[in-house]
Amino acid sequence: MLDLNRRHLLAGTAATFVAVQAGTSQAQVQTAAQDQRRTRFDTGWRFAFGHLYDVEKDFGYGGDLRTYAKQGIDATPVAKADYDDSQWRPVTLPHDWAVELPFVHKAPKTPLKPDDHGAVWDPAANHGYKPLGRDYPETSVGWYRKTFTLDAADKGKRISLEFDGVFRDAMVVINGYIVKRNDSGYTPFRVELNDFLNTDDTPNTVLVRVDASLGEGWFYEGAGIYRHVWLVKTDPVHIPQYGVCVRAKADGTVEVTTTVRNDSGETKTVTLNSNIYFTPIDTPVLAFSDLVLPPFSEQVISQTHTIKAPKLWAIDTPALYFADASIWQGSEHIDQVITRFGFRDIKFDAQTGFFLNGKSVKLKGTCNHQDHAGVGAAIPDALQRWRLQQLKDMGCNAYRASHNPPTPELLDLCDEMGILVIDETRMMTSSPEGLAQLETLIRRDRNHPSVILWSIGNEEPQQGTARGAHIARTMKRLCNDLDPTRLITAAMDNGYGEGITEVIDVIGFNYRDQLIDGFHDKFPNKPIIGTETASTVSTRGEYIKDDAAHIVPAYDTTAPWWASTAEGWWPHFDAKPYIAGGFIWTGFDYRGEPTPYSEWPSISSQFGALDTCGFPKDNYYYYRAWWRPEPLLHLFPHWNWAKEDGSKEGKDISVWAHSNADEVELFVNGKSAGRKTVTKDFHVEWTVPYQPGKIEAFAYKAGKVILKDRRETAGAPAKIILTTDRTTLANDGMDCTVIKAEVFDAKGRPVPKVNNLIQFVVSGPGAVIGVGNGNPNSHEADKASQRQAFNGLCCAIVQVTGAGGITVTATADGLASGKVVLKSA
Ligand code: GAL
Repeated sequence: MLDLNRRHLLAGTAATFVAVQAGTSQAQVQTAAQDQRRTRFDTGWRFAFGHLYDVEKDFGYGGDLRTYAKQGIDATPVAKADYDDSQWRPVTLPHDWAVELPFVHKAPKTPLKPDDHGAVWDPAANHGYKPLGRDYPETSVGWYRKTFTLDAADKGKRISLEFDGVFRDAMVVINGYIVKRNDSGYTPFRVELNDFLNTDDTPNTVLVRVDASLGEGWFYEGAGIYRHVWLVKTDPVHIPQYGVCVRAKADGTVEVTTTVRNDSGETKTVTLNSNIYFTPIDTPVLAFSDLVLPPFSEQVISQTHTIKAPKLWAIDTPALYFADASIWQGSEHIDQVITRFGFRDIKFDAQTGFFLNGKSVKLKGTCNHQDHAGVGAAIPDALQRWRLQQLKDMGCNAYRASHNPPTPELLDLCDEMGILVIDETRMMTSSPEGLAQLETLIRRDRNHPSVILWSIGNEEPQQGTARGAHIARTMKRLCNDLDPTRLITAAMDNGYGEGITEVIDVIGFNYRDQLIDGFHDKFPNKPIIGTETASTVSTRGEYIKDDAAHIVPAYDTTAPWWASTAEGWWPHFDAKPYIAGGFIWTGFDYRGEPTPYSEWPSISSQFGALDTCGFPKDNYYYYRAWWRPEPLLHLFPHWNWAKEDGSKEGKDISVWAHSNADEVELFVNGKSAGRKTVTKDFHVEWTVPYQPGKIEAFAYKAGKVILKDRRETAGAPAKIILTTDRTTLANDGMDCTVIKAEVFDAKGRPVPKVNNLIQFVVSGPGAVIGVGNGNPNSHEADKASQRQAFNGLCCAIVQVTGAGGITVTATADGLASGKVVLKSA
């Protein structure tokens, strides 16, 4: 044993690594530790389109000109440091070029046939009508290029690049050497650079060719390096990627299993030290192991710790601990990986549902894809947090990353915010590629306390077959080997009771609620969740169905044939203890798969409780009422009907309230239209003739008014008001905030049905990186500084570019402008 003790850790013997010191915050510890080994490699890239078929326009790499005959720089001018890329556009990652492209509608060469239910599914529509694929060779292949030099201090280090996700079919070229091909658009990959790096002062050139002509899903998937890239530098003796596995239980035991690799040609004698703590420094618990590592070898060491009375990771108090795995060579601290984890127990019971730390928790989840208004698939970390916060505010405690591994930051955030996650692989197959993707997913994500289930597939054709069972068994074996602490599920839409049913631990029902009770009777020992539930389709702020305009009312009344409304599923799931909970399809509207109108001009789905910008639709308040304990009252529709539908004056309007109070009373211009008793998990409604003025609702609890809500007939639009939930941003080049622009009349009443064109101007160190309005039929550009309001609302996402005060102003013809002041520090 080396003379290593707590004193070394307190003093932080090697200056380069994180010293476990009092005063260091939890967040600082992990950020600082990661920064020592890896830095963001997101800036300084240039981008150009290649060509799917024209080899010359694909920089010599396309088609049969690409040769694997000889490796290295000579064949490829674009890979040389002195190549003139001044015509290439500077970009910062994450970057999605699909969102920058216009929406394009071409009539399909062969007319599309309606399905059995009369719907026409256009593959171009599925991907959100972006010009990608064989019909668009000029915009389907993108090239990224960056040159970089290493510090003298990097000599002797192991250097690699880690890509969190590239959509898709990526080829990475370093100094002319093709070093990596990666098909998956969702699975991270790593490229070891050492052998190809320049050892003199010549800059190194990294090229990434990305081919987004094929999709992996039936929804918008983006195009490009749409997640972070990291430059990682380690000692030859180091902990490799995903080399620490932390398994912690609520009783305070924690096993830290660390891989230590020696990538040098000499035998190395080192000490592996692991150390657990909550806040630096509260009695770190240390373990030491001495290792002798022959050249080019690795060892896997498990160290066990016990923490007395640990704070548990729970939904409302997601306590996170740190496991610091460090390698010491003598008194030199040569590597360190700090992993955040949580002490928690999870259990699925076939009779009583899901338990976290012994307490029953109904999963109130949403399924989501990974795109947002303005930015497409390139969602900045701060926007990921914002999106999750909107879901939490709705009462959501669970998230299904459908149907692919999410970006790692999303899981970090779910850990921090107490959100339970179903983590899903993209392909249900036991092919080498399928298993490799699944393995990467589990190795990457198994330390996250938020992850409660691995999902091995979604509505796969083989789900009810014997072949499906074979494949599922192989996948399950891998899951269990890599992580015996979590169960597996698959999202099924038929074949219940057959095929993979016996293999998967938790049965996922996609819709088909009516089959659940029968299944439970027949298979009383299988836990059940609703992997996809509900699916009310609704257009935010609209209350009259208009098929010609592709508008569907925002009452909870319309769902596709395979799905149900919010009230169609939740009361049932809520009442049955053996159903562990469900995940609505979807939290947010998403691009592509336009539903219920599957054709142009619709470019996005209308399933969300929130629209593509994250503006709540009325159904959001249904869930908020029944998923959260706080009293809630939400009254709709708007009360501006004079000009709509001819004139609605005197005509009946259906007025709804979502509320969890005992009773709700509606007043029309001060006159009661009746008090209604609220039934758990249902709305209340009235039919009243329209007369301009106001509708008001009073919510009663034990006979007393506890809440009021109102809708008023607004006058002409007069002003814009800008709001944001964060005005102080971090000056880190990536922080951003969502600015909501809302149109009001002169008396300060929201004007519900207006579409003014709003111009955003930013002064100071910030920029608009995208705009949106949630209209599923809008073809306006996302990458712009202007946007029409849709039913009174639109938004701009503003990102910091430096330090200082940022003023965002919104103007529109005839309206007083709105302003918000931000600070980047
Ligand atoms: C499910 C599918 C989802 C989405 C949804 C639309 O069948 O798993 O990805 O397509 O239908 O309702």
